Amino acid sequence: MDRKQIRSVPIRPEEITPKHIYQSRRQFLKNMGFVGMGALLASCAPGLTPPDELPTGLPTDFRTDNMNNLLTSYDAITGYCNFYEFTTDKETVDEKAQDFVTSPWSVAVTGLVENPRIFTMEEILEAYEQEERIYRMRCVEGWSMVIPWMGFPLQKLLEDVRPTSEAKFVLFESALVPGQMDNANSDLFPFPYLEGLRLDEAMHDLTILATGLYNEPLPPQNGAPIRLVVPWKYGFKSIKSIVRISLVPDQPPTLWNTIAPNEYGFYANVNPDVDHPRWSQATERRIGDAGRIPTLFMNGYAEEVMPLYEGMDLEENF
Ligand code: MTE
Repeated sequence: MDRKQIRSVPIRPEEITPKHIYQSRRQFLKNMGFVGMGALLASCAPGLTPPDELPTGLPTDFRTDNMNNLLTSYDAITGYCNFYEFTTDKETVDEKAQDFVTSPWSVAVTGLVENPRIFTMEEILEAYEQEERIYRMRCVEGWSMVIPWMGFPLQKLLEDVRPTSEAKFVLFESALVPGQMDNANSDLFPFPYLEGLRLDEAMHDLTILATGLYNEPLPPQNGAPIRLVVPWKYGFKSIKSIVRISLVPDQPPTLWNTIAPNEYGFYANVNPDVDHPRWSQATERRIGDAGRIPTLFMNGYAEEVMPLYEGMDLEENF
């Protein structure tokens, strides 16, 4: 693709919010007298993040790009989910997943690495400082959210296990617990849910392992206790409740790409110019807003991620 055609939306500081900025914003809210309002909201949207229904006229520091990029509410993020191992009904995933046992938990990191390791969740939380990242999330189905994740760059964990020079891809595997997941033995899906990234994509600073949202631990329906978040790719790449990460030499088979390779590419980079065979990808419905908004190339992260795809045909490798 001609780089001149790239429509890039620069990432504003409030979309990737390091903790110190987040904290100073909290101070700012306090000065503005908004803390009471935050506390009122705490029952449904825990944490310190500004409410998603700010009065107009506030400084743009509270927003992402514009009014359409206000944070999606905690209730919407946790009440409208895709987690097919439990159910395909987005609005009952929370109910179906509520008894999913996420502690104790461990993640095995194996394959082409010098230091294969099984991390307990406690070790992960201890070793890697959690930071807030506010990202757009665009589902391949045409809806989107703006989510304040807590997590850490996957790169940090990968560096600790030291991929060998043969490692070129990273394969992720979700938990599969038949007693706790109604669809675990479904004929429709070849679970366990598998996803993959090229190693350089996995090492990109925007790629995180998320452990929380709205400053709270992830609830089961959103992929507790640890999930991937790759904000420039369609949401199905952001695999939930990870139990294994393997470094491999070749592009691994992934769940959606195996089921329907012509509909769900391995790369799955958000691209308004490459339609899904059954619908347009040019626009999206931001959950909580009326109407549709234009979908951004690379979900608005082109400036950061296009160096990964230099010389690659993005229509062919969709
Ligand atoms: N991971 C697993 N294990 N199972 C799933 O069904 N759904 C994917 C992705 N990760 C899914 C998954 C899809 S299609 C999307 S859009 C996102 O999770 C949704 O994340 P959310 O429900 O937290 O918004």
